[in-house]
Amino acid sequence: MSKSTPADQKSAEKTTKSAIKAPSPPAYELRPGQSIELLKELHILTRDGRMNQDSQRKLKQVYHLFQFIEPLLNEISAAQPDINLVDHGAGKSYLGFILYDLFFKPRQDNSHIYGVDTRDDLVQKSRALAAKLGFPRMSFVNLSAAASIASEQLPAHIDIVTALHACNTATDDAIHFALKKKARLVVLVPCCQAEVATIFNKHKGAALAKNALTEIWRHPLHTREFGSQITNVLRCLQLEAHGYQVKVTELIGWEHSMKNELIIATYKDLPRRRPTERLHELLETLGLGEMRDRFFTPV
Ligand SMILES: C[S@@+](CC[C@H](N)C(=O)[O-])C[C@H]1O[C@@H](n2cnc3c(N)ncnc32)[C@H](O)[C@@H]1O
Repeated sequence: MSKSTPADQKSAEKTTKSAIKAPSPPAYELRPGQSIELLKELHILTRDGRMNQDSQRKLKQVYHLFQFIEPLLNEISAAQPDINLVDHGAGKSYLGFILYDLFFKPRQDNSHIYGVDTRDDLVQKSRALAAKLGFPRMSFVNLSAAASIASEQLPAHIDIVTALHACNTATDDAIHFALKKKARLVVLVPCCQAEVATIFNKHKGAALAKNALTEIWRHPLHTREFGSQITNVLRCLQLEAHGYQVKVTELIGWEHSMKNELIIATYKDLPRRRPTERLHELLETLGLGEMRDRFFTPV
């Protein structure tokens, strides 16, 4: 029998180590009481109960988002009996259904989730799914986020507003909705927004001649990217100008979604003057004065 050399031993050790290497943590763990039927209906689990790889990305986002906002939901729930939540640009309502299943379902109260979307087919499907799953405190309305602000299909009192990848200016309309309803919590993952980039483009020629700052958005790709970034900066300032405390973070690694910025605003009745001044100054400096109505402030 041949004797093993130190090199052999090292290699055997390596093999054993890799053989017993802990498996990567499961991408998704079920919580007690979580509805398997819901996960199958959302095509997150296959019919035979395995994880559907295509849906994993969406689920990771929604689950991750839930982890961020669960403590805030608990805080609100400790302070008042019922919670009304509106999800704008709900789409297939992954977020609403998962929130309902994980947080609202076990509560024996009148808390309610409302999904708002411009696509009637998705609204109908979500209504049918809520009925099938026996989720009575979920409603879906076929409205734009802008129209929902004055709509009587939604209650006057709303505590939480969410908008996950709501298209273009739907995020801004969701913010206006939240401000009108004096929502305590606003959770946004903005999608692309073209409005600011359009205004940059409109004034580009004249602006370039005046100010070196405009180099930031001279190239079309930069116009789009900077437009998107500055839109989110203006959104944060607007929320701060209305007394909210704002946190901005990454929802989940960039490999999962290019639209990955998570904005969480909690109403704290904070001083409004400085964010208001900053917002106005930024609009003027960047030649976006015509957007004062979009980014309105209390004063
Ligand atoms: C990219 S999908 C996101 C859906 C869902 N929130 C998600 O993350 O899976 C955007 C959704 O917003 C809806 N939408 C677009 N513009 C809207 C508006 N102005 N008001 C309400 N919903 C809108 C679309 O119909 C679509 O369902």
